[in-house]
Amino acid sequence: MENFQFCIGTNILFGKGQITRLSEVVKPYGKRILLTYGGGSIKRIGLYEKVRELLSDCEVYELNGIEPNPRLASVEAGVCICKEHGIEVVLAVGGGSVIDCSKAIAAAAVYEGSAWELITSATPIQKALPLIAVPTMAATGSEMDAGAVVSNPQTKEKRSFFSPHILPKASILDPIYTFTVSAYQTASGTADILSHLLEQYFSAKTTFMSDLMVESVMKTVIRYASIAIAEPDNYEARAQLLWASNIADNAMLCCGNKLCVFGVHAMEHELSAYYDIPHGVGLAILTPRWMRYVLQKSPEVVTPRFAHFARAVWSVEETDDTIVARQGIEMTEHFLRNLGIQAKLTEVGIGTEHFEAMAEHCVATESVGYAWIPLDKDDIIRIFTMSL
Ligand code: NZQ
Ligand code: ZN
Repeated sequence: MENFQFCIGTNILFGKGQITRLSEVVKPYGKRILLTYGGGSIKRIGLYEKVRELLSDCEVYELNGIEPNPRLASVEAGVCICKEHGIEVVLAVGGGSVIDCSKAIAAAAVYEGSAWELITSATPIQKALPLIAVPTMAATGSEMDAGAVVSNPQTKEKRSFFSPHILPKASILDPIYTFTVSAYQTASGTADILSHLLEQYFSAKTTFMSDLMVESVMKTVIRYASIAIAEPDNYEARAQLLWASNIADNAMLCCGNKLCVFGVHAMEHELSAYYDIPHGVGLAILTPRWMRYVLQKSPEVVTPRFAHFARAVWSVEETDDTIVARQGIEMTEHFLRNLGIQAKLTEVGIGTEHFEAMAEHCVATESVGYAWIPLDKDDIIRIFTMSL
């Protein structure tokens, strides 16, 4: 077991009606608030009204229209509001894109240089405004992790950045507010949660305990995703998915493991940077192809691990590891296809035209060369090609 430090400072308030405690968690940080949200779903579900009512004695400024795959321009607009009005706390209400954008705003508002410089710099972020999150869909787990992803359409880059300073101080998770997430977005979010788990599980060195924890969260996601899609207002299904998304990416499940590289994520970020597709859809397309590719590339390392996965998660009972490993890939692919999202790059309008550039950029900016099965530019082009 490797040494680790685990300190999650996010106060989680989970369940029905927890939103009524909003002012209690926001006000210790100040009463001049920047409320951030996306294209309007929070108005349609009555959450906007509720938030405004609960903060009626605060000075609330707004940034709306934050786009899926949030863009640098939205970050810059938020930073301007923060600086102009002396914002004390940022309140993000929405999906992972709203929360990520708000993390960048919170850090860039107290930074001397430009927001993009802050996002792309190797120098650690020194400080940020306090951030509170109210996630409205189960996917990224951004409400309890120290990462964020922002796109710059001008440079066709989608960059992740990490800092304990951007970890939300508190997050309020009410599954009821996720009832209206469309079947398509629920499926995309499910693929994202599953990918976060797989990326940690398929890594160089994991522990017995972390394996069991990841397996149980994977089984939870597999069990409840189809229920949430078929019955959007099934509270139990939405609650299980929301909590699974939260803990899948907050680093607790990989404590004691060797540091892992999210290689499929690195490849997907190229796709959504160039083509603005939903992150989870890109992952659903790439994941089974990556599995097939690495099994073929390094069978001696990959076969036993994939076989372990297939037995533990998909209850495959065969004895031959090679057969079991392949069945694990097929079961994963079948599950992802059945979610009802696109299964090929061509189905989301992606051809071969940018494969070279995307693979080159991926290798230059992400640590894919240090992944469990290291990937170089040619490997990535082959995986993209298999995904067409
Ligand atoms: O914009 P609105 O109107 O709110 O609609 C959103 C959006 O169109 C809608 N939606 C959200 N909650 C809803 C709802 N519609 C109805 N009812 C609700 N309750 O869903 C659409 C997608 O929202 P988005 O926030 O883009 O989805 P998601 O949570 O999947 O976030 C994706 C972004 O997060 C990044 C991705 O790369 C992508 O940019 N990631 C962030 C991570 C992190 N911070 O740790 C890790 C991930 O691996 C990921 O990279
Ligand atoms: Zn993800």
